[in-house]
Amino acid sequence: MKPIRRQTVKQLIQNPLLDTTVDVKGWVRTRRGNKNVQFVALNDGSTIKNIQIVFDLSRFSDEQLKPITTGASIHVQGTLVASQGKGQSVEIQADELEIYGTASPDEYPLQKKGHTLEFLREKAHLRPRTNTFGAVLRIRHALAFAVHKFFNDKGFYYFHTPLITASDCEGAGAMFQVTTLPLSDLPRTEEGAVDYSRDFFGKQASLTVSGQLEGELGATALGCIYTFGPTFRAENSNTPRHLSEFWMIEPEMAFYEIADNMDLAEEFIKFCISYALEHCADDIQFLNDMFDKELIDRLHFVVKNDFVRLPYTEGIDILLKSGQKFEFPVSWGIDLASEHERYLVEKHFKKPVILTDYPKEIKAFYMKLNDDGKTVRAMDVLFPKIGEIIGGSQREEDYDKLMSRIEELNIPMKDMWWYLDTRRFGTVPHSGFGLGFERLVLFVTGMQNIRDVIPFPRFPGNCEF
Ligand code: 4AD
Ligand code: MG
Repeated sequence: MKPIRRQTVKQLIQNPLLDTTVDVKGWVRTRRGNKNVQFVALNDGSTIKNIQIVFDLSRFSDEQLKPITTGASIHVQGTLVASQGKGQSVEIQADELEIYGTASPDEYPLQKKGHTLEFLREKAHLRPRTNTFGAVLRIRHALAFAVHKFFNDKGFYYFHTPLITASDCEGAGAMFQVTTLPLSDLPRTEEGAVDYSRDFFGKQASLTVSGQLEGELGATALGCIYTFGPTFRAENSNTPRHLSEFWMIEPEMAFYEIADNMDLAEEFIKFCISYALEHCADDIQFLNDMFDKELIDRLHFVVKNDFVRLPYTEGIDILLKSGQKFEFPVSWGIDLASEHERYLVEKHFKKPVILTDYPKEIKAFYMKLNDDGKTVRAMDVLFPKIGEIIGGSQREEDYDKLMSRIEELNIPMKDMWWYLDTRRFGTVPHSGFGLGFERLVLFVTGMQNIRDVIPFPRFPGNCEF
């Protein structure tokens, strides 16, 4: 092989220097041809597109080409030329071939095309090599990048909140415990309870369900911050919208009221979708053509239209008057089920809806109480096909009101002193929200199952790798 710098397939297609010698490395998708010439479709993950490599059999023997089967990894040098064939603009006339690794056709699980997503979930260790997962994972990357760009451009600071914590932000009791105590021989107090003073941190600790509470400490110092990290929930939800480990983006802003919070959430989601449309056009087009013919239209529609803003109470009225039979009956005070959310978004308004002012009983303790004493300044952003994509609120900044909610809900105070200090020293109106990153990726890719938009999904009963 000549000492030539390797180029990615993406570089070769985007910026082709015709009639030069190029160097390319990747995994074989297919090989076909006849006894004069063989065509190999090579993919290196840089783009959904393959580059075609042409092997002239007057220069390469059958024996040399034999290891080139689907899944094999190869290194090729040759001349980049305009392609005669359909489906590609350039191709490589091979001069040199090096085989890195073979993939036995009898054993390689992705030998055939057109596997179902269910089958590929069983082969999660290899599925990034398929067109579909390559597309999803590149879009996922672009969206993560868009998140940082959006907040950085707005002057927000990326604030790292802990993954191991001693507080339960959402109060839903769905936390994974972190311990180094010997489970088969737990130390006990005199009363017989587990003695956590002898645990690693000297107290009971868990994986975080949200970085919000610590995020509020950041916002009441730096002004506007955001977190973007993994979040863990031990709820036993086997649905296509829930993961046990998911990524969440949680901006928290001092001096923002609920309306500012809604404006930010809407602008943020639209920015991320636009970013993906602009930077992942090939991948989104592929998913549109393969899985969901309305995907691109739906993405443009959401970017172009205002979200509806609707108080919970009015939402309940619409559901009651809808004449629709719901599995879970509707009345004021219920936590909306996905069928209710989707009715409002997909049937009634046909647009994303920001539902506000929920009954305090169904929301977390930190939300700001409205003057009616019954509802809180919550906002959930509801999306077509997804349901809740964002949950957020204005925060209760009044020490006494916050304390009385904490007491009403019997939240253990001894672990919350640091949070309450934000209300004791220089408290300010502030707001924030959490966007479930995988739900955003679901929406942008048009995939149906959240397990297909994260490389290694964690859900009840599944922790492979
Ligand atoms: O509505 P949630 O529980 O809100 C919070 O955690 C707040 N502390 C956020 C805040 O105000 N800073 O979760 C926020 C979002 C949901 O709207 C949903 O998109 C996503 O996180 N989410 C999940 N995504 C995947 N799997 C799960 N099990 C999820 N639970 C919540
Ligand atoms: Mg929520």
